[in-house]
Parts: sequence; structure tokens; C-alpha cells
Amino acid sequence: MVPPGDVPVPVLLAVDGRRLGQVEQHDTLAARNSRLAPGDLLTLRVRRSEITAGGDVYQEFRVPYQKWMRVLDALNWIAENAAPDLAFRWFCGSKMCGTCAVRMNGREVLACWEAVEPNMVIEPLRNLPVVRDLVVDRTRYEEKVASLQPWIERHEPYAGFPEPLTHKQMKNASKALDCISCMCCYSACPVIGLGNLTDFAGPAPLVQLGQTALDPRSNPQKVRRSIELTGIFNCVSCYKCEEACPAHIPIVSGVIEPLKAKAAQLNPEMARHPFALRDIVARRGRVDPGELVLRVQGLRGLRNLTRLWRLFARRKIDPIKTLLGIKTSAAGAAARLLGGGAGKP
Ligand code: SF4
Ligand code: SF4
Ligand code: FES
Repeated sequence: MVPPGDVPVPVLLAVDGRRLGQVEQHDTLAARNSRLAPGDLLTLRVRRSEITAGGDVYQEFRVPYQKWMRVLDALNWIAENAAPDLAFRWFCGSKMCGTCAVRMNGREVLACWEAVEPNMVIEPLRNLPVVRDLVVDRTRYEEKVASLQPWIERHEPYAGFPEPLTHKQMKNASKALDCISCMCCYSACPVIGLGNLTDFAGPAPLVQLGQTALDPRSNPQKVRRSIELTGIFNCVSCYKCEEACPAHIPIVSGVIEPLKAKAAQLNPEMARHPFALRDIVARRGRVDPGELVLRVQGLRGLRNLTRLWRLFARRKIDPIKTLLGIKTSAAGAAARLLGGGAGKP
């Protein structure tokens, strides 16, 4: 049964800016607005800092629904009528400045663009220090972007106007230029959530870098120096960032993967892990975590004996098979598919 106002379109892939499953779950803007009538009370549980000495709490508010109400309208209603000290940021109100990003019911959204729901939990973005309530400190991101020097240094003299550039050459860089620095992707990234365990710059700084590093006019040596500061191979290609991006930038396929390819070409040592993985699979028809660790970390990989014992007990590694280089029956097909496994480093 489709609620009135919704259009039943049988899509499986995100098209026209819709998320996967949005239509099937009756979660379109029209469907959401049809669930509420003007005057209905919305329940918002907003995460607030320092209200009590006990730290963060969720404060509940009842907000009367108005037609076409956005999350930002509900927050403004609270600030005007119930909690004047509620801290949240916004500027343009029209999906352009990226300052209003929050998490609604566990999902990163732009408050100025997201339709309200009858029950909402509103929280600040993850992976950034909270200044107060819904306001996060963006210094970490801004410093990282500045350190990557995301501007073009030409390696050839200016060719004059119009420059000889094709749409194909600029395809990925121009998609990255749609970024509004909202940090939704940074909040959604599980690798950034690991904190200092990796030196990964995160999706938002990589998108900023991609705007110039994927431009063919950029000096490859400068691009190499910038990419070396990103820890880009820590990205596990989980696509969480792409799912969260309100600007619908193909962050992984259009920015991170092309940057990884550039890194592998300009500094093969950075891509030691993927090259080794590819080589092992091509030679032996399977992933051998033992050989992978040895090839990437060398003898350092043998230092943690407790971890090695655990991996052995769970049958994750098999030293005999690793030492003898035993192949599976898939080795021939894998070698054909992967071109003989010619890994570089
Ligand atoms: S694809 Fe990479 S950058 Fe994006 S969320 Fe996953 S780990 Fe983070
Ligand atoms: S890539 Fe998308 S989600 Fe990430 S900061 Fe830019 S606009 Fe926001
Ligand atoms: S207020 Fe500018 S993007 Fe939401």
C-alpha cells in the first residue's frame, strides 16, 4: 500500500538524487510530508552538552509541524520558543554552504535540506570534537586540507585561452568541485572513526585534493607530494561516505579510486599492500594473509606473537602453506584475470 502523494517507482539503484531503497521504504520528501498534517506535534530528542554536570544528555522537545518543514525549521522553532541557548550552525539555508550538517536518526543530513520526521534524534557529526550541542570543531579538517596544498601548480606554461581540456579529462575533478565541505562523509567514515590508529586523511580532504590533483594541468610531482600525506590506502572502499554525501559526489569511484591509481603510478611504494595482494591472488588463486603481512610489514609482522597465535588458532594463517606457496585450483583463472599478477613493489 503506497501512501497518498508518493510515486511508486520500482528503482533499485539511486537515481535523481534518491538514496537506495528510499522509494520502497516510502521515505521520499512527498511521502514524509504526507504522514504529517500542520499542527501535528513532532518529537525531537536533541543531544546537548553541559546542561548538567553529568555531561551530554538528550533533551526532548515537542515542535508543531508546519507544511514542508525541514530539520532546520524545527531547530529554529526550538531556539525561538523553547531553548534559546541551543547551539547549531547554518548560513545559506539552501544546500550551498555545508555548515548545517547534523545526524538525524543515525544518518548524516543537511538540516536545511532534510524533511522532518515524526520522531527524530538529532546529534552532532561524528569524528570531530563537539564545541557545544550540535556544533563541531572543523579545525582538524581545515588544517588537513591546507597541508595538502589543494591548488594547481602547472608543469607546462599556460597554453592560452581557451585551454585545450576535454570533458573526459576533467570528468572526475569537476565532480569533486561540487563539494560543499559539509563533512557528512567524514562523519560517516569508519576508518576515520578509528582515530589515531591510521594516518588516513578522510574522504572530505581527499575530495578537496581531487579538485586539483585530478586536473591534468597539475604538476605530477606536487600531486605525488600531496597524496603522500593522505594515507589514502587506508580507505577500505566501503562506500559509506558516498552514501552520506548530500551533493551526490561519487567519492569512491570518482575521486578516491582515481587518486589511488595516481598514487600507485607516482609512488608505487605507497601501494605496496594492493600490489602484494594482487600478486598473491594471481599466483596462488587465494588470499594468504600470512604472506600478505610478511610482504607488507616484513619481519615486523612477526613481532606480535600473541596476535599470530590467535590468527593461527582461528585458521586465518597457515605457515606451512605460506612457506610452500601452495596454490589452489583457481590459480590459473586468477592469473588470467589479473594478468599474471605482475605486482610492482
Ligand atoms: S570508502 Fe573509504 S573514505 Fe569512504 S567511508 Fe569507506 S573507508 Fe571512508
Ligand atoms: S564530499 Fe560530499 S559529504 Fe563530503 S564534504 Fe563534500 S559535499 Fe559533504
Ligand atoms: S545552511 Fe547552508 S547547506 Fe545548510
